[in-house]
Amino acid sequence: MRHILIIGIGAGNPEHMTVQAINALNRADVLFIPTKGAKKTELAEVRREICGRYVTRSDSRTVEFAVPVRQTEGRSYSQSVDDWHASIAATYETLLASELADGQAGAFLVWGDPMLYDSTIRIVERVKARGQVAFDFEVVPGITSLQALCASHRIPLNLVGKPVEITTGRRLAESFPQKSETAVVMLDGEQAFRNIDDPDAEIYWGAYLGTPDEIVISGRLAEVKEDILEARAAARERMGWIMDIYLLRKGADFED
Ligand SMILES: C[S@@+](CC[C@H](N)C(=O)[O-])C[C@H]1O[C@@H](n2cnc3c(N)ncnc32)[C@H](O)[C@@H]1O
Repeated sequence: MRHILIIGIGAGNPEHMTVQAINALNRADVLFIPTKGAKKTELAEVRREICGRYVTRSDSRTVEFAVPVRQTEGRSYSQSVDDWHASIAATYETLLASELADGQAGAFLVWGDPMLYDSTIRIVERVKARGQVAFDFEVVPGITSLQALCASHRIPLNLVGKPVEITTGRRLAESFPQKSETAVVMLDGEQAFRNIDDPDAEIYWGAYLGTPDEIVISGRLAEVKEDILEARAAARERMGWIMDIYLLRKGADFED
């Protein structure tokens, strides 16, 4: 039986690696590293640096693989994601069958934590259900970009006794500020915060968190909105890609 380790590696700073994650890395015979295309070589670089820094056994090896690109043309959002997962599952299946011998362990190094806006777990489940390669798997938690954001801004995530919504740019309009007083937005390619028009809203924004390029801006949304849009556009132009996350808040502790 092969064994798969799905390891959360943190959100950009190699020091996010937990002791559990480092020990898991060293249990793997093969380390699978996704390369996501030329513009995000920095992300593959963080994974390589983590392996270089923490892998102490000399007999494991690294296998880099290209992640299939999501096709959107002529498909609904769900169909497009489902097709994408199917093609990643086929890639994983080939990797497991060709790179791992029976009895060996392989590790997938997952950005942040595998439970948060990441499909590695569901894709591995999918490969398992196909029944072509026999394996079991375990999940090792990691530091998320959400934790990195709150730490960099030195803020608690929730207001006292209040809930939090984690959502995407596409769905922000459905939640904040009508439904939730704290909304965390990830995967926002459209800067949905620009459409929030509430004089009491505050924003805590961060890009490239945990990396040497980290940028953070916070303040009353109406006052810093333009600064964030400008900083984001300039960074994206300079780097060729961007990864950002933000928290929107309305209200205060002990306020009903
Ligand atoms: C596919 S999700 C992966 C989230 C990851 N599993 C986690 O635990 O943070 C990618 C999104 O996470 C956020 N993100 C991840 N790393 C980040 C970082 N270092 N700085 C800012 N945002 C980040 C961005 O919103 C990005 O669009």
